[in-house]
Amino acid sequence: MKKTPPDSARVAAVGHLADEAAAAAERAHAPYSHFRVGAAVLGGSGEIYRGANVENASFGLGTCAERVALASARVGGETTITDLAIACIDAAADAPLEAKMPCGACRQWLQELAPNARVHIAGETRSFSVAELLPHPFTLRRP
Ligand code: THU
Repeated sequence: MKKTPPDSARVAAVGHLADEAAAAAERAHAPYSHFRVGAAVLGGSGEIYRGANVENASFGLGTCAERVALASARVGGETTITDLAIACIDAAADAPLEAKMPCGACRQWLQELAPNARVHIAGETRSFSVAELLPHPFTLRRP
């Protein structure tokens, strides 16, 4: 595992994170929705991890791009995730922001594995904190 990169390296990496997400989306398995999504996670080490949605004939078993990328980063040894970019390459050019935002389940995953990440949406200038996306996350408290 590499050391945490300086801020300048992070800024440079974030600059092409949306392109990484779009490249990941090309490898989606989305024969049912025909809506390919890619995600790219920037780990604290400076490494980038890609994910794409993977659907199944048993529709409920499909998984989202964000969760694939987050799991990959975790298994890659990352304990800190600074940024995540999402690219919906089949969204219409004039699709509203809402059509490109992460789903609720992915927000809960972000809370778990990347609580301090910034979330970037390809084609949009705004980025979001996880707290903005999921203001009152479920947290497990046992009696
Ligand atoms: N999808 C994602 O990959 N990420 C999201 O945050 C929202 C939805 C995928 C799931 C499914 O394969 C397709 O987009 C249509 O919902």
